[in-house]
This record gives sequence, structure tokens and C-alpha cells, in this order.
Amino acid sequence: MTSHGTLPSLDVHLDEAAADAALREDARRGLTSTPKVLRPQWLYDARGSELFEQITALPEYYPFTAEREALADGADDVARLSGADTFVELGSGSSTKSTLLLDAMSRTGTLRRYIPVDVSAAALEEAVPALVAGYPDLDVRGVVADFTANLHSIPRVGSRLVVLLGGTIGNFEPEQRRDFLAALADTLDAGEHFLVGTDLIKDEATLVAAYDDAAGVTAEFERNALTVLNRVLGADFDVDGFSYVAAWVPQSSRIEMRVRADRPMTVSVPALDLTVSFAEGEEMRTEISTKFTREGIASELDAAGFDVAHWFTDPAGRFGLTLARRR
Ligand code: AVJ
Repeated sequence: MTSHGTLPSLDVHLDEAAADAALREDARRGLTSTPKVLRPQWLYDARGSELFEQITALPEYYPFTAEREALADGADDVARLSGADTFVELGSGSSTKSTLLLDAMSRTGTLRRYIPVDVSAAALEEAVPALVAGYPDLDVRGVVADFTANLHSIPRVGSRLVVLLGGTIGNFEPEQRRDFLAALADTLDAGEHFLVGTDLIKDEATLVAAYDDAAGVTAEFERNALTVLNRVLGADFDVDGFSYVAAWVPQSSRIEMRVRADRPMTVSVPALDLTVSFAEGEEMRTEISTKFTREGIASELDAAGFDVAHWFTDPAGRFGLTLARRR
């Protein structure tokens, strides 16, 4: 653990060189597998983060608003039922929704600590000072870490409520999801809590529109992964030669986001010493967004060692939040 130079309240648990090497190895595996696949991490450079911010404001992208509505209604119940004094937020980013929970937990009077965890030191450096100023009685300690790889970097203090918002758990493959929930259960003591946001299964048209918006922002966001590969790995993807596809795959209850080669293409990836060919119409997956039912997420939590303490949604029932308690 190293303390950040300018911000004593930021702990860095990320070996960036090792993380880069792992991501590269993953790109090699994904670009040589059938079908081709990339990790969502390639989406979030500065431009990608900016595009994602734009996505959250799109009329078609209901999960953001729906989760906010649900939290506005349910935050007090979460604060009361968890009784936590320590609020740990995984993938906190700019911490915009956290204030609903921070305020609710402040009202119940138990809250002492807020620990935002994010892979981006830049996001934390921006968010933490404002939080310190806005909540003067709160002990705010940012942790820079990849929570999918390193849950043990979460400090073991107080009685914790760990939160994963946005439907981010939907980005994981089923095995990754199981491993993550098991690792989280392993990190928590009996009686500690986990709050997870999940987008819910609904009609296909609504789901597809949310991931294939009329303005084309999501298409640009997903194709940006190719621009990142060009910059980071020296690849020569002709980004304009790829179109974007959002497909609902009912067998796996998920939206799959893919880029499709409009013509046959050969791409060289010097940093991986690799040449990759695409057939005309060949698709490469850039991201998945799994959709859940109330029963489905409850049974996965149960299998990992959690009891469901509370379930709530937005008034229209589009997005669900489950408060789970470690057995
Ligand atoms: C950030 C993973 C929750 O799956 O809805 C939105 C990402 N990608 N539009 C989601 C995303 C394209 C988003 N999560």
C-alpha cells in the first residue's frame, strides 16, 4: 500500500504495470478466439468515459434514471436495515449517486466512514476533495483498486455496507459473477451488507433501444474500444470500417454489444506481435449487459452466502436494488 503524494486520503492498491500486462494478455486471447471478444475495460479511456457520461443522459438509456429513482425511494430503508457505519462503494467513479445513500446514512446517524473504490485515480482525485468538503464529519478514504481482482484491498473496519450500483454486475460473465460474489462474501463478516443494482428483464424493444440509441452515442462508445487498441497497442483498425450491433440474447438474458466488420479486413497489432483477420460481417463483442429477475439475483446471492434483507425498484419497476446480508 502506498499513500498518494498529494492526497493523504487516497490509498493505491493497483500495480498498473501488472494490470496493463494482464489486459494485453486478455486482448491477445480475445482477438484470437472464436467469436472475437474484448474486455469492457478497453472502453473507458478519457473519451470513453466522456461518451458514457453522455449515454447516461440519453432519453433511451433508462437504467440511470430508474436506479436514481429507486435509490431516492429506498435509501432510508437501506440505511436503517444495514445499520452500517462504513459505506464502501465499488466503482464509485464520480460518486454522483452516492450522495443519496450518504445523506440517508447521515440521517440515521450511524455513518462514520465512506470508502469509494475505483480503478481510476483521476476519478477519485476529483471526487474525494468535494466529498471531504461536503461531509465534514465523515472519514473519507479513497481506494484505487480493481475491485474485480482485489476485494481484499477494502479496509476491514467498522460494520460495512458494500455497494455496487449502475448494473455494473451485469458486465460480468456468469462465472465471473459467481467468483466475484464468492470473493465478496469471503471479505465480509456475518451481519455486514451488500447493496447491488440490477437492470431487469423487459421487452426487447426497450432493451435494444437503450443500447442502440438514435443519436448513435452508444455506437461511438463501443467503437471507441478500437481507437483505444490503436493507441495503446499500436493496432491499425480502420474504425470507420466497423458498424455497431446491439443484440438481445434471450438464452443468456443479456444485451451483447458488438462491432461488425463491414468488409474483410486484416489488422496488425504490433504490441502483441499479432495479425488478426476479420471476414466480412464478422462481429467482435465489446461488452455484455446482463438483465435479471428479482428471483434470479436473489438465488445467486443465496448461493454465495447472502440472505436478502430488502428489495426495491423504481416506481415503473424497470431497475431493481437488492440489499443482501452476509450469513
Ligand atoms: C456501466 C455496465 C452499467 O451495461 O448499462 C451502457 C454500460 N454500455 N451503454 C450498462 C453501457 C453501453 C452500462 N454499465
